Amino acid sequence: MVDGIAAVPDGSPPARFTSRRAGIAIEGLEPIERGFVEMRYGFAELEERYARLAEMGRAVDWKGGSFEEFDLRSFLEEVLPTLQFPAPHPRAMEYGTGTGPGACFLAARGFRVEAIDISPTAIQLARRFATERGLEITFEVADICDIHCGERRYDLVVDNYCLQRIASNQRREQALQTVRCLLAVGGHFLIGTVLAREGRDYGEDRLDARTGIRYRRLGEDAEKYEDAVRLDGAWYVPIRRYLRAEELRSELEEAGFEVVRQRGGQVVCVVRRRAA
Ligand SMILES: C[S@@+](CC[C@H](N)C(=O)[O-])C[C@H]1O[C@@H](n2cnc3c(N)ncnc32)[C@H](O)[C@@H]1O
Repeated sequence: MVDGIAAVPDGSPPARFTSRRAGIAIEGLEPIERGFVEMRYGFAELEERYARLAEMGRAVDWKGGSFEEFDLRSFLEEVLPTLQFPAPHPRAMEYGTGTGPGACFLAARGFRVEAIDISPTAIQLARRFATERGLEITFEVADICDIHCGERRYDLVVDNYCLQRIASNQRREQALQTVRCLLAVGGHFLIGTVLAREGRDYGEDRLDARTGIRYRRLGEDAEKYEDAVRLDGAWYVPIRRYLRAEELRSELEEAGFEVVRQRGGQVVCVVRRRAA
């Protein structure tokens, strides 16, 4: 698993970060491992986005595009018929549901669906769009990195383009451990995530090519974010994580999954069982 912070962006010399807490420059420091800053930072922006979508007066996905043709649809259509489920109405859990297009797709196909998102506004919309379609889905505001799996078990867990928004190693590990725990024996974990892409333009953001972490430059309000890191005289927060395909695979394997199929950022996994 890649780690730490050193080079930004491709080809540029190793950078020195100053952590707000430590107040000193330390090469290879890992400031993002201390908290949930990538969520706290983007929260207001996310809520504004979903509030704008609410005004559109029709069901849309998180981009304001078609609710029916959401990003993960073709992958689900391709993969679901190849999976075996123990009962006619398998239990499914989707995280990063947004306005719920994936959850509705699954419920319309007979899954008993529970879905979560960290955005309360997205969850309100998801409930509305599901009700409009006559679908019974349990939607909750929750963070996949924070929930306790308890007694709940699912035949299917779906990451619907959420993982790239979880930047730190610690939170990604928490999310994957939770998924492992949530899966019933024989259950499947389907992932759609954004991978690193050569030549992508990050605008004012900076990419740490070694870790795949994308940083957003902070303005005057940098003081608000305790996990902000200082680079070349400016403050940044980590907002995304774009791994390469083989890094994603290693991360999943290290977290105890067996990757049974992978096409880029679209992956089918099962929990690796110990040899008898
Ligand atoms: C790229 S959007 C995709 C939304 C939806 N799946 C779609 O296709 O329209 C990612 C979603 O993940 C949610 N999210 C980000 N981090 C999360 C976390 N830690 N736990 C649960 N949801 C999260 C965001 O609020 C956002 O709605």
